[in-house]
Amino acid sequence: MKIVTIVGARPQFIKAAAVSRVLRQTMREILIHTGQHYDKNMSDVFFDEIGIPAPDHNLRVGSGSHAAQTASMLTGIDAVLLAEKPDWVLVYGDTNSTLAGALAAAKRHIPVAHVEAGLRSFNRRMPEEINRVVTDHLSALLLCPSRSAVKNLAKEGIVHGVHPVGDVMADALDHAVKRAAGDSTVLDTLGVRDRPYLLATVHRAENTDDPIRLKAILGALQKLSEQEPVVFPVHPRTRKRLMELGIANPKSRETRDKSKTCPAFRGIPPSAGQVQNLSRVSRDLKFTDPLGYLDMVRLEKSARMILTDSGGIQKEAYWLGVPCVTLRDETEWTETVLTGWNTLTGASTAAILHAVHHGPRPKRHPALYGDGHAASRCVKALRTADVRGQRSKGSEA
Ligand code: UD1
Ligand code: UDP
Repeated sequence: MKIVTIVGARPQFIKAAAVSRVLRQTMREILIHTGQHYDKNMSDVFFDEIGIPAPDHNLRVGSGSHAAQTASMLTGIDAVLLAEKPDWVLVYGDTNSTLAGALAAAKRHIPVAHVEAGLRSFNRRMPEEINRVVTDHLSALLLCPSRSAVKNLAKEGIVHGVHPVGDVMADALDHAVKRAAGDSTVLDTLGVRDRPYLLATVHRAENTDDPIRLKAILGALQKLSEQEPVVFPVHPRTRKRLMELGIANPKSRETRDKSKTCPAFRGIPPSAGQVQNLSRVSRDLKFTDPLGYLDMVRLEKSARMILTDSGGIQKEAYWLGVPCVTLRDETEWTETVLTGWNTLTGASTAAILHAVHHGPRPKRHPALYGDGHAASRCVKALRTADVRGQRSKGSEA
């Protein structure tokens, strides 16, 4: 069986690594990298570090508007599908690469398998929500991380080809935790070994592209860093916005231009004089470039608490038993909130501070999102899927 797998963004490299490891034992996989993420620390580092096979095709679409980026991916993916003629197209998550892969395949009547199907935030202002809804409705095989994802699909009338397989990120994390313990020196590099610290990430458009929300989050992180270190690996989208706002960015035009060629955040906290919109940045607000997966997992594991708007990191926090504050108004990973391990604060400075200082510390930690063997179940579902049945259902509709 020949599978074309489509990835393009950081979390997809991590998910695909877990599945490819199993898939390639019995099937032929052709890997397309759309090029949605392209910086070394957003792409290459994952291929180098966690043994993802090199892409067979890199479309190098780069950044752009949703329309331009998706259109460019569609054209590129279509050409590869025509040449490769796969039995299945495998897509992950909810990025523009996911949507383009699913749409290109569906138009060529190639069945689509969607890993992380059925997630919903019920917020159509999120580009990811549009991507996942459309992808699910185009997919013949829906590989769900949870029972609630299965229910979400059923409510939309999707009941065929649905498999609760668990979350492939749990498989990936299991591997990474073992390797990170030996390989990562990040705690020493950042000076947080044997010290309680917080770990923060922010990259959702709803937070980065709204200056009020971004400033409120930064304000909270700054306040928190006066009491304990806050390690903040900065996503390039966020870095761009922070620089536009004059936060954590050199003041003078001359230095600002230099900072474009020499990364401004390489572990160097900005000094008080560099901050225009926040009164003071403490030395212990530790900005870093985006990290490799092993360093990130090492930092997550020892953090006292994690503050994030990332989907993947909310789950990793849960699996590692680290309380999480989610800097969003809603989450797709509702079980992490229901168990008390994750608190939704939106972008309110006061709510974030309250959650960090007074958030729940639950005693129970039920297993969520599978058992670390989701990849095997995905591959089994692919092997045994009734593609002809799915196709004829599609054509009857
Ligand atoms: C994308 C996904 C999001 C996912 C995230 C994972 C969509 C709509 N969004 O968001 O669901 O959670 O990836 O990290 O697909 N940039 C660089 N270098 C890079 C990549 C991006 O500088 O290697 C900058 C560019 O200015 C770009 C911006 O970041 O315009 C946003 O990148 P993009 O891939 O469009 O969306 P993400 O915010 O990364
Ligand atoms: N991650 C990483 N380095 C970082 C930030 C995140 O390796 O600097 C990993 C993180 O551990 C998780 C994944 O990237 O496995 C989450 O990706 P991201 O937050 O970009 O996207 P999302 O999950 O929100 O789609």
